[in-house]
Amino acid sequence: MKTFYLETFGCQMNVVDSEQIVGIARQLDYVQVDSPDRADLIVLNTCTIRARAERKVYGHLGRFKPLKQQRPSLIVAVCGCVAQQEGRRMLEKTPHLDIVCGTHNLHLFADMLRRVQTRRERCAEVSFLDAGQRRRLFPERLPSDEVTRFVTVIQGCDNFCTYCIVPHVRGREVSRPSAEVLEEVRALVRQGVREITLVGQNVNSYGCKEGDEISFAALLRQINAVEGLERIRFMTSHPKDLSDELVACFGELEKLCKHIHLPVQAGANSVLRAMRRGYSREQYLDRIARLRQVCPEIRVTSDVIVGFPGETGADFEQTMDLLRQVRYAEIYTFLYSARPGTAAAELPDDTPATLKQERFDRMLALQEEITGNYHESDVGRVLPVLVEGSSRQGSGQLFGRTTWNRIVNFDGDAALIGHVVPVRLVRAFRNSHLGELA
Ligand code: 5AD
Ligand code: SF4
Repeated sequence: MKTFYLETFGCQMNVVDSEQIVGIARQLDYVQVDSPDRADLIVLNTCTIRARAERKVYGHLGRFKPLKQQRPSLIVAVCGCVAQQEGRRMLEKTPHLDIVCGTHNLHLFADMLRRVQTRRERCAEVSFLDAGQRRRLFPERLPSDEVTRFVTVIQGCDNFCTYCIVPHVRGREVSRPSAEVLEEVRALVRQGVREITLVGQNVNSYGCKEGDEISFAALLRQINAVEGLERIRFMTSHPKDLSDELVACFGELEKLCKHIHLPVQAGANSVLRAMRRGYSREQYLDRIARLRQVCPEIRVTSDVIVGFPGETGADFEQTMDLLRQVRYAEIYTFLYSARPGTAAAELPDDTPATLKQERFDRMLALQEEITGNYHESDVGRVLPVLVEGSSRQGSGQLFGRTTWNRIVNFDGDAALIGHVVPVRLVRAFRNSHLGELA
């Protein structure tokens, strides 16, 4: 029996790609194991969004060197965004690495494995697919017994925000034909899936290119009509592409969850301009107001970058002020990290590290307070929860999520898995609520 070990870093796109890697390995008669120590094949599916993510990959690869020395037949492969960025150079830097497989090249992965096995040939494939081959970006998925699943609707990104490496490692935007998306959603629902999260680097530019058929809002309406499906989510949305048609969906589509991840990145117009985000603070706040108009209960989450080149103390205060104004349910805060090849990497990274950290800590403290308020005031409410599975360690507890994507643990029968049930929230923790069946 041949075994493989897979580790996944980064975002939702890599999670979907990793499912494909599992499928390919299984087809080649590999069985998945949860430790690299005795595996015949090790795959790292990597992220390069910040320098730290990239360093982590090299750190992990270092751990596999002694394994390869003990067992020369071991195959080590790197997929995903670091593979795409580094290409063949990675083979030179890392003598015990066999395969470098870029973000558009998973359809070649099985063949690369064979080349290594039969000819001990080390290989790197990192060319981007052209529009004619784009179906390869949306391969068939493995069957699943899960309650919630990701479905890719768009690959790549055309925005070139000045800090971001994604367009460089994921290529240009390619939307998937709506019929194919619907077919996959229906197939998943037949397998028992009850919640679909439509994923892409920028889902609301779905269908915006010449030759595309329908808008993202139209796609949502079609998916909303799929019988047996309970819930729809999507991520990530770019504020500049959040159309009125899409905003209206939050008032009209009963299956669409009342949550949107709408990364603002910064609260000062000068910084937004330097980031090339394509919206102003005022336009962003207007989008939030409209969302709340059509769906008063909607909760918004965000990403924020601290210490972008040129960010002044006053700029930072504008971001803090925006956080107070929007009252996000949660934010993900990142220290700016210069990425090679991006426009911002040419700008002087001029905020001292200690000052960046100080701003970062203050932002965290403010958000903790806002998030805590939401969680405390939710205690006592009875909310519909989609039950996803059993909580860990045979506690007899189930877990599920509210429409706001908040995890709730509660006692209940496993027969409830896959159903939406009313749960009273009784206690708030940092990352979840404790509840009881109502
Ligand atoms: N430095 C810091 N944070 C970044 N992000 C993207 N690129 C960078 C960078 N160079 C953050 C953005 C994005 C999230 C996924 O990662 O906030 O929304
Ligand atoms: Fe990370 Fe971006 Fe790659 Fe996702 S697409 S894994 S966020 S670098």
